[in-house]
Amino acid sequence: MSEEIQYTDINKSFEAALERSRKIEEDLIKNPKKYRVLTGDRPTGLLHIGHYFGSLQNRVRLANMGVPTMILIADYQVLTDHDAFDKISQNTKQLVIDYLAAGINPEKQDVIIYPHSYVPECNQLMIPFLTLVSNAELSRNPTVKEEIESAGLKNVNAGMYTYPVHQACDILFCKGNVVPVGKDQLPHLEMTRTIASRFNKKFCTDMGKEPVFPEPQALLSKTPMILGLDGSQKMSKSRGNAVMLSATEDETAKLIKKAKTDQDRNITYDPVKRPEVANLLMLISLCTGEEPTAIAARIGDGGGGMLKNTLTEALNEKLRPLRQERARLEKDPEYIRKVLLDGAAKAREIGIKTLEEVRNVMNMKI
Ligand code: TRP
Repeated sequence: MSEEIQYTDINKSFEAALERSRKIEEDLIKNPKKYRVLTGDRPTGLLHIGHYFGSLQNRVRLANMGVPTMILIADYQVLTDHDAFDKISQNTKQLVIDYLAAGINPEKQDVIIYPHSYVPECNQLMIPFLTLVSNAELSRNPTVKEEIESAGLKNVNAGMYTYPVHQACDILFCKGNVVPVGKDQLPHLEMTRTIASRFNKKFCTDMGKEPVFPEPQALLSKTPMILGLDGSQKMSKSRGNAVMLSATEDETAKLIKKAKTDQDRNITYDPVKRPEVANLLMLISLCTGEEPTAIAARIGDGGGGMLKNTLTEALNEKLRPLRQERARLEKDPEYIRKVLLDGAAKAREIGIKTLEEVRNVMNMKI
């Protein structure tokens, strides 16, 4: 195998990654059709406002710009870190409801939504791709290592080590060339780029043929990490510090009432010294577009109570149309099913073409 994958130390090279991201962003606006965006989620449950402000809103923006977009629901990948599988289908449908309610529209935009278990051509790439990486490279993946550690797993299944290769299948089967991601997904993207490059070299260019796969780029989110209402860790449903998109206005108000603030009554924006207060201000800012410092100045001596009331109002107002649309879609399960099946059919068409090219360059065509 050529050069071992060097997983970049993202804390050292984050600025460079951001800079590359900015360049793609500029070009995306000018040449949306040059790109195919591939993004996805594991179907682990309902989405919360951290997902919304961190990634969903950006997907809607890209789709509205006319960028061809594939949104995959990683229903196989969810098996690598979740024992429970009884709710996969239910979670998949709830994800689609969240996407559509947020403004994704496969009828009006060039968007395909599908579960990867329904696209055998995608999964089929797994076999040749596994021959292009070493065991050592798989076990050195920093995100995989972190996941094993934080879950305290003693017996790690092989799916845990190989899912980044499957993620490469997700991205490459449709020739995705832009992948909007957070920091934690960058090692997976590096693996994807390496697989694409090794495949292209071995089966294509070394044989005097045209490369089959693009080497996809990361598009880093511009939204700072959204903390949970406890202000101390990332927002996540399992930590009980999240506001779900599907929550009612009353539930939202109750959750925010319990949010952590601090002793100082005078509200100021200081993400380092006052992370809890700063996070609430940031959330208001994401809803209203006003600068966090300006919001803080307006609240001033109003204290934590006024800060929370302001957030409750801003968030409920921002999410009202989404929540109304959500309620409407919940009553139309047939439509949700149709979106997924149509999406899977379109994804398969793309996958069949790619697999044809793959068989060709691998001299397997009969
Ligand atoms: N690993 C991603 C997550 O945990 C989900 C995912 C699967 C994904 N395949 C992908 C993301 C391909 C981007 C591209 O959220």
